[in-house]
Amino acid sequence: MYPVLIEGPRISLRELDAADTAAVLAATADTEATRHLPFQPMDDVEVEIYLTELIDAATDPERFLYPLAIVRSEDNQLMGLAQLGIESFLHRRAELGYLLGSPYWGQGFGGEAVNLITDFGFDHLGLKRIYAVAAARNEASRRLLEAQGFDKEGTLRDHLLLGNAWVDGDIFARVSQGTNTEEPATT
Ligand SMILES: CC(C)(COP(=O)(O)OP(=O)(O)OC[C@H]1O[C@@H](n2cnc3c(N)ncnc32)[C@H](O)[C@@H]1OP(=O)(O)O)[C@@H](O)C(=O)NCCC(=O)NCCS
Repeated sequence: MYPVLIEGPRISLRELDAADTAAVLAATADTEATRHLPFQPMDDVEVEIYLTELIDAATDPERFLYPLAIVRSEDNQLMGLAQLGIESFLHRRAELGYLLGSPYWGQGFGGEAVNLITDFGFDHLGLKRIYAVAAARNEASRRLLEAQGFDKEGTLRDHLLLGNAWVDGDIFARVSQGTNTEEPATT
């Protein structure tokens, strides 16, 4: 499915484009925001390559990756990214990820983004199960997931390599109540 535009009360989730390089650079270079995530800060050339890969993935006819910009409606400010990665079309299962620049924390934007992209996954992609893995020490992400109706299912031991340390990841999931067994849409 392309292009995707999801509109909520205070934010929208939209497709990324090449003009987003500076904003994506700001979000991904935010070391406070990437503290619990398994990727290194990128320079501007690396971000351009990363963005091109995401845009290519979004326009793939067999699309399985939904990387979307989290944009504040009042001023169109790109605050971060939210992503669904379909892991199995057969089992209608996707992994959720998200990152908000630290200046935008604590105002409910992260929760709104997670709720919007999750509902989109269930209602428009026909997913059955959406899960996220948060580093066990990532209190903000754990709280956010619980607040958005994700249940903790367990702890994955040594799931993430952060810097030079292995850390446990807590797995949280929301499962659609629907009984639809149609394949997720790709167009
Ligand atoms: C996780 C993240 C998206 C939260 O965004 P946010 O907009 O600040 O979250 P919200 O304002 O919607 O708050 C959601 C819940 O988390 C809680 N929370 C937010 N920041 C918190 C913190 N630093 N410590 C503890 N709880 C926190 C809020 O109180 C709220 O819980 P409540 O509804 O029970 O009151 C943001 O901190 C972030 O991008 N972090 C870096 C990237 C990351 O960790 N991504 C997740 C990978 S799994």
